[in-house]
Amino acid sequence: MNNIAIVVLAAGMGTRMRSDLPKVLHRAAGRSLFDHVLMAARDLDPARVVVVMGPAMNAVADAARAVFPAAAAVVQEQRLGTGHAVMMAKDRLAGFSGTILVLYGDAPLVRPETLKDLCARQAAAGSLAVLGFEAHNPHGYGRLITDASRHIVVIREELDATPAERNIKLCNSGIIAIDSGLLWRLLPNLGKANAKGEYYLTDIVHLAAAAGQPAALAQCPESEVMGVNDRAQLAAVERAFQERYRLKHMLAGVTLTDPATVHFSADTEIAADVLIEPHVVFGPGVRVASGVEILGFSHIEGAVIAEGARIGPFARLRPGAEIGANAHVGNYVEVKKAMIGEGAKVNHLSYIGDAKVGAKSNIGAGTITCNYDGFDKHPTDIGANVFVGSNTALVAPVKVGDGVNIAAGSVITRDIPADALAIARAEQVVREGAAARYRQLKRARKAARTKA
Ligand code: UD1
Ligand code: MG
Repeated sequence: MNNIAIVVLAAGMGTRMRSDLPKVLHRAAGRSLFDHVLMAARDLDPARVVVVMGPAMNAVADAARAVFPAAAAVVQEQRLGTGHAVMMAKDRLAGFSGTILVLYGDAPLVRPETLKDLCARQAAAGSLAVLGFEAHNPHGYGRLITDASRHIVVIREELDATPAERNIKLCNSGIIAIDSGLLWRLLPNLGKANAKGEYYLTDIVHLAAAAGQPAALAQCPESEVMGVNDRAQLAAVERAFQERYRLKHMLAGVTLTDPATVHFSADTEIAADVLIEPHVVFGPGVRVASGVEILGFSHIEGAVIAEGARIGPFARLRPGAEIGANAHVGNYVEVKKAMIGEGAKVNHLSYIGDAKVGAKSNIGAGTITCNYDGFDKHPTDIGANVFVGSNTALVAPVKVGDGVNIAAGSVITRDIPADALAIARAEQVVREGAAARYRQLKRARKAARTKA
């Protein structure tokens, strides 16, 4: 395959999103639309990356550099069309010779394999290749007009098409791969005598064909080229990603008892032989090892779960949660930035934050690590084989040694040495017969009142 440079068009303001955030930075499946495009591009190992963005979109340049540290960002001050946008990238591609692949920042579903196929066809043709698709409803897309040998001779935009051309269902995704020499030679010849009065990149196909180099066609399913212009389309893209990831995980050996209710992030990593019950949400940054069971209605983000652990139902794992092998985290338990040791159990109604729980320790129902004093966060360090009685408050910073036993209802404010028993609650008082005497007194008073 040729040397590849990538140009991502992202100058659209995204007016229809009705948002202060540039359109391409909206998220689907836990990452921005733009990051999805960049991650697909990364698989092609491009020699150069140039992003064409609108004014005041520095966040877009930053996002590009987070994936490609050497990416160049250029501002297209005025949106004069896709051809004009690509022209903006020219200076940044000086000295590059090879295939230039043009991607759209708002079309995040395209797969790396599809892009590789497109680039391979471009390399074989030596000139250019266009990624097309059969549209269910072609309205609004440029139509691909092919010759007898399925080469593309013209791309006709909807507004410029004749009624006969509008019946064509083979449409332009907008993604093209083109030889750099050919691109820079033809680009200055684009006109704007069209319905929108814009410089259409698509006209380059006609110019190339006229010069005896018709474009090769690569095809992909329509679902891969879905673009985002408004929040309804953003939701449709989210749906498409979720369907893709559910299938991917199931085929890789993950059981989803009700796939339609499980939401993944693009980077979710799940080993084989994991069971996931209905209504589980994976935010970014989750890794799950083999043999884990995640029961219904759990919300998991930025967490690592080791072999054989059982999570939920109704568990919440927040960033920095590390759940050890065969540990249990049960219902209404929240774990944040905390390590739960191998075989440890936190089964009911607890908050464990900024903490360590040693192997085989048992954290009773309602235990809370009081990690925040209103100003700063403090750590709680619980050893191995500790038994924490129900409804214990551990006021951090505090250390609990191995083998400690804490009585239920304790408020622990000082460190506890290994194998000690700690009781930190008011001592129980028992007055024999006092309840009966109290009832007698109350009854007598009530009787006196009703008589009067
Ligand atoms: C374009 C194609 C059309 C194709 C469709 C697929 C052209 C002339 N038409 O039409 O054949 O079927 O995409 O969705 O290319 N952009 C800039 N600067 C500009 C103009 C556009 O950066 O000056 C960016 C947009 O942000 C967007 C992409 O280029 O990411 C496409 O632009 P858009 O205006 O949506 O083109 P369409 O009319 O949809
Ligand atoms: Mg468009």
